[in-house]
Amino acid sequence: MKYDFGLVGLGVMGRNFILNVAENGFSVIGLSSKRESIDTLESDGKDFTVKGTEDAKEFIESLSSPRKIMLLVPAGDPVDSVIDSFIPFLSPGDIIIDGGNSHYDDTERRYNKLKKLNFHFLGTGVSGGSKGARLGPSIMPGGDKEAYELIRPIFEKASAKVSGDPCVSFLGKTSAGHYVKMIHNGIEYAMMQLISEVYHVLRYGMDKSNDEIHQIFSTWNEGTLNSYLIEITGDIFSAKDGESDTYLIDMILDKAKQKGTGKWTSQSAMDFGVAVPTIDSSVSMRIISSFKDVRGLGEEIYPKSNPVVGEVSVGDLEKALIYGFTICYAQGLSQLKVTSLEKGYSLDYREICKIWRGGCIIRASLLEEFMNAFSRNSKLENLIFDKEISNMIKENESIARKVSVYCINNKIPSIALNSTISYLDAITHTNLPMNLIQAQRDCFGEHTFERIDKPGTYHNEYWQG
Ligand code: 6PG
Repeated sequence: MKYDFGLVGLGVMGRNFILNVAENGFSVIGLSSKRESIDTLESDGKDFTVKGTEDAKEFIESLSSPRKIMLLVPAGDPVDSVIDSFIPFLSPGDIIIDGGNSHYDDTERRYNKLKKLNFHFLGTGVSGGSKGARLGPSIMPGGDKEAYELIRPIFEKASAKVSGDPCVSFLGKTSAGHYVKMIHNGIEYAMMQLISEVYHVLRYGMDKSNDEIHQIFSTWNEGTLNSYLIEITGDIFSAKDGESDTYLIDMILDKAKQKGTGKWTSQSAMDFGVAVPTIDSSVSMRIISSFKDVRGLGEEIYPKSNPVVGEVSVGDLEKALIYGFTICYAQGLSQLKVTSLEKGYSLDYREICKIWRGGCIIRASLLEEFMNAFSRNSKLENLIFDKEISNMIKENESIARKVSVYCINNKIPSIALNSTISYLDAITHTNLPMNLIQAQRDCFGEHTFERIDKPGTYHNEYWQG
């Protein structure tokens, strides 16, 4: 018996994805070093054509040609170890798919290494968590188009669908898939941070109960903000703690961890010269959150404001979120635009918005509007410049500022919202005070400056008389 698809790494993501593929009518084989993972796979997949093995050679020999092998193992060294262990048994034309959150530089290195050996490598972002893996994730492949065409029937069946369209599309060469997934995660960080800031206002500014917050998010999910993150946020506020007589949210320590994809987004944005301050500040807030003791010391020296100054309504917060969400997608997409040119990915932004509409963590109804914006102009400089999108931003802008001022006056940290507003202000200001920075640089370091009245670079010897 030869199997259509092989998967390495039978953790919950891997098991769920391979079962999803099997349920869609493909024969599958999973490889794991853990006997119990294999037993679980075979029992969960008893109604489909599913096999598990601990033997790498048997795994590879059981796959039909060209072999389609997907890795869902932790990013980093484990990916290289698995690939290296497979190389002696592979045949030219075989396809290795890395479905983890690998760094795009690693993906490029692996792609080039395997290409030299006549194997295909598809660096593929998979979003949707363990549930998405089972029910239909958003899949973001990059690498060789011809290899993608071979795995396409499997990915199209296994992916989420929106209005019948599969949430998978070939995105571009080499590391394009993993780059797009990284940006997805950067946007995810920004949306989560904006939501948390609004939660802070609801809880500590407006004194809303968890039940009320649950209701507010559930209602928002019926409107423009309709999205996976708003939906699960609503659910979170109704969950009770199994160990105490309270809500689970109130028992969770306020230190947010991170695996690194948000940080990579910011690092890469700096490297490629793109401004994504909402994403940057979301990463910074995760870092600040980790210093709980320091924050405690700080609060003794700079106590919180009391009583609350000013007022915002629930409707104001909804508008501020619509504004913030739109601009953080715009930042992520603008980063893709710059990188696409630098790396020659030739990304299609409409297509990216399309496959983000379902299955992934940042799926949201707003993506439909963004798709339309790129249909109107595929070369849009920045999403915020589209007519319809700019109207939506303008409609919510003054309220976003009002919420930001309220947060500042009440010492409610709103770094993501504030930086989103300042980003828009900066990127829509023809004249910025950066002439002064040029003058300072020239003054202390003879770094030269350009003039507004004639071309060339100039240096002034006499700044200090
Ligand atoms: C997804 C998610 C996922 C990510 C986790 C945790 O698209 O399914 O983005 O890939 O790993 O959400 O990320 P952090 O640990 O960095 O918060």
